[in-house]
This record gives sequence, structure tokens and C-alpha cells, in this order.
Amino acid sequence: ALISLRQLLDHAAENNYGVAAFNVNNLEQIQAIMEAAKETNSPVILQASRGARSYTNDVFLRHLILGAVELYPDIPVVMHQDHGNSLQTCLSAIRNGFTSVMMDGSLKEDAKTPSDFEYNVRITADVVRIAHSMGISVEGELGCLGSLETGKGEKEDGHGFEGTLSHDQLLTDPVEAAQFVELTKVDALAIAIGTSHGAYKFTKKPDGKTLAIDRIREIHRRLPNTHLVMHGSSSVPQELQAEFRKYGGEMKETWGVPVEEIQEGIKNGVRKINVDTDNRLAMTAAIRKLLSTNPSEFDLRKYMVPARDAMKKVCAQRMVEFGQAGQA
Ligand code: G3H
Ligand code: 13P
Ligand code: NA
Ligand code: ZN
Repeated sequence: ALISLRQLLDHAAENNYGVAAFNVNNLEQIQAIMEAAKETNSPVILQASRGARSYTNDVFLRHLILGAVELYPDIPVVMHQDHGNSLQTCLSAIRNGFTSVMMDGSLKEDAKTPSDFEYNVRITADVVRIAHSMGISVEGELGCLGSLETGKGEKEDGHGFEGTLSHDQLLTDPVEAAQFVELTKVDALAIAIGTSHGAYKFTKKPDGKTLAIDRIREIHRRLPNTHLVMHGSSSVPQELQAEFRKYGGEMKETWGVPVEEIQEGIKNGVRKINVDTDNRLAMTAAIRKLLSTNPSEFDLRKYMVPARDAMKKVCAQRMVEFGQAGQA
């Protein structure tokens, strides 16, 4: 059945587990997640970015997800808007069947700095007022995602800020977080604790301290009833990178977020963990492999099947690692 993010994450909090939120853009990605969920008996969060909605089309996307709900009646499914950037985006998501929306007001479109607290509160509170009247959950975001190693903060459009940001600018302030939730009433809060989007998170092998775990703990202490969200949580496994490169893919040396650190985050209040890059990498590596080892192949099912299997494997692994396996 389709459920709200609040319903799922309340259960996750009561039972001390985390839930992966996987990005979806097409049929095969939805199939991969649902098969992984069935295999591991997991509840799922399917999330679509603005780009995914325009790539797939809202009507196709709604019917694909309703198809998944019909085919897997025992698996709870949350349909979530990832990184909504306006009231209008969140409202159109709700009209199209989403049961949860993210209003990412952490940056204004033309922001030069990563903080406009009043704007963020105003727009997020507006979304919450409307969404809650319809039983829809809301995720907000406070802080600037970015790597503590490189000091590179990211803007909402994926391009970085000029120059290097201090740790204070890169980490969500716990006092502000408490004020933000009090003023907006969001169900879930994305926090900046050292992660960033995409494949290039860290240039060195992580030393076990890539995330600001103390900061997570402090925010959770002040906000025990608000579910914390970690964006940029792909682990970018070295084996997947090697597979991608082996068949002609180009990727500089890089490291993602170690799963053990995510598990430490879950112990301290993180409930929703966003993963997209790992699945993109797994699918693309599988397609590269099939096509380069079978250059005469042109039946798309021949490369979409291994791609879907590769994504299913990543998803099932994360479901077990984050603790949602067995919780459907
Ligand atoms: O946060 C971004 C997600 O990885 C989705 O990316 O905007 O390219 O669809 P996208
Ligand atoms: P990754 O790029 O680390 O997979 O993060 C995805 C994400 O945060 C989507 O909102
Ligand atoms: Na942000
Ligand atoms: Zn994100």
C-alpha cells in the first residue's frame, strides 16, 4: 500500500532502523527496488527528482508506482518528491499522487551564500500547512551539503560555491535546526553533516570520520521526534568503479560514504538515507559490460536485464545494511 513518509519513519524510529530512499526514473529502476524489497521483506521509499518527473512524465510515473503497489501488495511504499524547490513543485507532486514531498528551501535559486533562514522557514512552513491538511508528509533541509575534507559546498543546482567553506558553514547548526522544526513543523529534516551529492565525495580513502556523528547526535537530542535525513549517501564502492572503468567508463579516483558510518548515523537518529549514484553506477557498468562483450547485440532487453539485476543487488544490500530488511 502507499503510505506517507511520516508513517514509515515513525515505525523506523520505534524499531531503530534506517530506510534507503532510492531515486527512480523509469520502469526498470522501480522493478529493481521492488524485487529487492520482496527478497528482503523491506518497506520502500521511491523518490523522484524534478528531473525524473520531467524525464518520465508525471502520468507515467504515477502509473508505474501504482503498478508496483498493485503487484507487491504486502510492501509499504512511500512516493516522495526529492528536492522540490518551490511551492508549485510540491503542490503538483501532491496532485500527482506523491505521499511525501521535500521542500528544499536551503537555498534560494540565486543564493550566493548557503543560508537564508527566513526564506527557508517561510516557504517550508507554507508547504507543510497545505501538505499536512491532506495527510502528506514534508521533508525540509537546513544547511549546505558539502565535504568536510574539501570544504566544497554545493548549491542546489549541483554546482559548488566559489571558494572553501568552513566547517561551521558546512554543518547544520543544532540550535537553528530546533528553531526550524518548531517554526515549520516538518516531519523529516535533511541535515548537512559532511555528505555531498554525486560520485566525487572524498579524494582520499575515508578514515572512519567522514561524517560529523557528534552533530547528528546533538541534533537528534534536540529533535527526538523529527526524522533525520542523510542526502548524498552513496558509498561509491571501489568494485563498482572498477567494473565501470573496465568496460571503458571514465571516473577519477574517488570515495563515497562508508556504510559503517551510515550505520552509526542510524544509531543516532538518521532514518532516511538517499541513494542514487550507486544505482546509476551499477546499471551503467552492467550495460557497458554487456554491450562491449557482445558488440553485435541490439535487443535492449539484453542489456536492461543485467542492468536491472545489478541495481537490485545494490538495493537489497543497502536494505539489509540499513536495517529495513524484515520490516515490511
Ligand atoms: O539529488 C539528486 C538526485 O541524485 C537526483 O538527481 O536531479 O539528476 O535526477 P537528478
Ligand atoms: P548520492 O548522489 O550520494 O547517491 O545522493 C543522492 C541524493 O541525495 C538524492 O537526493
Ligand atoms: Na542544501
Ligand atoms: Zn539529495
